[in-house]
Amino acid sequence: MSLWAGRVEGSLDPAVWEFLRSDDAELLPYDCEATAEHAQRLRAAGLLTEAELAEVEARLAEIAQDPATYTDADEDVHTAIERALGDVGRKIHAGRSRNDQVAAALRLYVLDACAEAREEIDALALVALSFAESEADTLMPGYTHLQRGQPVTLGHHLLAWVEMLDRDRGRFAHAAEAAAESPLGAGALAGSTLGLPPPAGQMPNSIDAVADRDFALDYLYAAAVLFVHLSRIGEELVLWSSSEFGFARLPETAATGSSMMPQKLNPDVAELIRGKAGTAIGRLTGLLATVKGLPLAYDRDLQEDKTPVFATRRDIRLALQALTVLCSGVEVDRERLAAAASDPQLLATDAAEALVREGTPFREAHEQVAASVRDGSFAPDGTAAESVAARDGVGPGGVADAIAELRRRFGDNL
Ligand code: ARG
Repeated sequence: MSLWAGRVEGSLDPAVWEFLRSDDAELLPYDCEATAEHAQRLRAAGLLTEAELAEVEARLAEIAQDPATYTDADEDVHTAIERALGDVGRKIHAGRSRNDQVAAALRLYVLDACAEAREEIDALALVALSFAESEADTLMPGYTHLQRGQPVTLGHHLLAWVEMLDRDRGRFAHAAEAAAESPLGAGALAGSTLGLPPPAGQMPNSIDAVADRDFALDYLYAAAVLFVHLSRIGEELVLWSSSEFGFARLPETAATGSSMMPQKLNPDVAELIRGKAGTAIGRLTGLLATVKGLPLAYDRDLQEDKTPVFATRRDIRLALQALTVLCSGVEVDRERLAAAASDPQLLATDAAEALVREGTPFREAHEQVAASVRDGSFAPDGTAAESVAARDGVGPGGVADAIAELRRRFGDNL
């Protein structure tokens, strides 16, 4: 039975009912939490007795744990909860609408999803950081345009991953801040006459409170950027583990064989992460397109906000956990890395800088060294190891300092 049955005489066509139903079972515990808060406000306004509030709270605690609450006969999770509350449920909807209710529940969901994302990011950052620690003095070529540029340490390169992850933590913190406001009290769009006390963190404008989905967009944006980062990391792992590079060997716990070619160990985890980045971007652009052009306040189009958020949370969790396993088991071939880093041409920039230190203008120094590279007479002084040690932050000492600073920034989590 729908919550709006009083308004219409007949029943909906089953095809229409099926179409309108919301796939939002994941909201169950969050909606129960928001409903409990609403019940306390009803109690404070004298609209529920102490005994009724106690009954609501006890029932909600059970309902939150029982996925069977939500049946095929319910239009959405809000309807299911009201029905499952029994008699006292008939009082619970005073002063609220599903419009502020769904926004409140989704906000609690996003808050949890942000906290979960931050925990999983920390776990990967921790692994990347100890990886960087053990490779603080491993030489490798640094790349631009996927062409060898200058020697670096693998430790320095891996810490670039950790910096990306640190910014991702900040984006999820921002999304959590956006989600932390409360739309309760906004009702359908314009509040109520019941004199309920404001919820903690009440949004100032009731129309905005039910129309706003910025917090969901912020979450999907944070996720899209996270996945873009994971995808770049994944791409590097794909390259490094190829025979052409031969820099790394994937752990058997996180690589797959080929059904036909017996020799193969494939980087499917890294590839699927790259693939998921496309999907994550699609979910963000999908919700942006849904919200664009909607007149304030609530429109049923907004029911489409849930699926991308739910699916994104799942993908973040699974992708980060799989990549954490992969990164904790990957083995690097230090000799092969060192051989690639010992390419003398990688020291051409250092040679030009040596001339600069002796007083040659940089452009002239660049031309001189370029000419010697072109005619094959270029011969560097020094080694890749000396080169990295001479550049700020890139050599083993710089990596150790950066690790200490990152551990401070991540706090107790690393
Ligand atoms: N299931 C709806 C949603 O997800 C709940 C709000 C419905 N409100 C309404 N006035 N029809 O957005």
